[in-house]
Amino acid sequence: MTLFDVYPLNDITITKAQGSYVWDENGVQYLDLYGGHAVISIGHTHPHWVQRIEEQLNRIAFYSNSVHIPVQQQLANKLAQVSGKENYQLFLVNSGAEANENALKLASFHTGKKKIVAFSKAFHGRTSLAVAATDNKAIVAPVNETGNIDFLPFNDEAALKQYFQTNGNKVAAVIVEAIQGVGGINVATESFLKLIRDLCNTNDALFIADEVQCGYGRSGKFFALDYAGVDADIYTMAKGMGNGFPVGGILIAPYIKPKHGMLGTTFGGNHLACAAALAVLEVIEKENLIEMSKQRGMYLINKLKSIDGIDNVRGKGLMIGFDVPADIKELRKKLLHDYFIFTGEAKPNVIRLLPALNITRKQVDEFLDTLNEAIAEMKTTAPKGVEENAY
Ligand SMILES: Cc1ncc(COP(=O)(O)O)c(C=O)c1O
Repeated sequence: MTLFDVYPLNDITITKAQGSYVWDENGVQYLDLYGGHAVISIGHTHPHWVQRIEEQLNRIAFYSNSVHIPVQQQLANKLAQVSGKENYQLFLVNSGAEANENALKLASFHTGKKKIVAFSKAFHGRTSLAVAATDNKAIVAPVNETGNIDFLPFNDEAALKQYFQTNGNKVAAVIVEAIQGVGGINVATESFLKLIRDLCNTNDALFIADEVQCGYGRSGKFFALDYAGVDADIYTMAKGMGNGFPVGGILIAPYIKPKHGMLGTTFGGNHLACAAALAVLEVIEKENLIEMSKQRGMYLINKLKSIDGIDNVRGKGLMIGFDVPADIKELRKKLLHDYFIFTGEAKPNVIRLLPALNITRKQVDEFLDTLNEAIAEMKTTAPKGVEENAY
């Protein structure tokens, strides 16, 4: 049997990982500023995370949501404390797409309405409604197409106001990433996010913050939306939540009332996933990783801004992007194959940095030195042919 070939692969096999380093099968060490797509939040194979999962595995790994699962409540309590969203309710799932799918569905149940507002360059996942709300036609199958999603330009307050004037009464939810990830690290302005909040309030629509990538401390606050000083009605989470153990969830405001059977999942909230997610929050708290992310991020962004040869450095905390000019367009591949550094990308020309929140200052400096060296080397050699980008 062959694997269904949907991923353009780097020709690398990782066999070991620790902290912000991974090693391939030949023992070559790589510095990881990609974290398997923003997933590694507390560092690879963090000992506390390993220990909690091992302990849980030896007791019970899984039972369905037909019985009490106390570790779910433990996770909810810790999440309330670390996120500050004390009054919210938690529904657990397995991935980011599933979190958004449930959030959108819940918004429609709650409001009785159908229209969803999403934004240009948004990425919300690959399941039915989540992919329909994603601004990439190439990944929307005919069966996913729906007239219920309206796309508006990101950060365009006038367009949003105008839309709501004519369609406000039909809107069930606005879904937005406070910092777009796949779209290329585009930071929503605080006034745009506040306007979404106001318009949702006056039109009985729900504000869904997709914090799957920008959440969980990565931005230097627990949720990137927190910078705007407003609350969402539903927050969606995944990626950093389990540090690699598949787990996702939605935080639901107290006035949204549940009903038996309204949402459901077989695997969501299983014992093992909750143990992993609990370990992540314990480490975030103990190692002060939200503040760490903010400080390291500021340091990294300032240093990047002073590097000649890259443009438009942006982001918050450890969610950082910069544009790669055409003369060094292969920078990301060079960093990976010649200098053994993983970074992320966003098409067509953005490098995304999404390291673990506890990346050390020394590792950040190591990256900056290498980046300078790689750029200098590329500028002195003639550009090679076009290579396709691997996302
Ligand atoms: C903002 C955002 N939402 C949703 C998703 C989908 O998450 P998953 O791949 O876990 O389904 C992603 C994945 O990149 C994402 O970046």
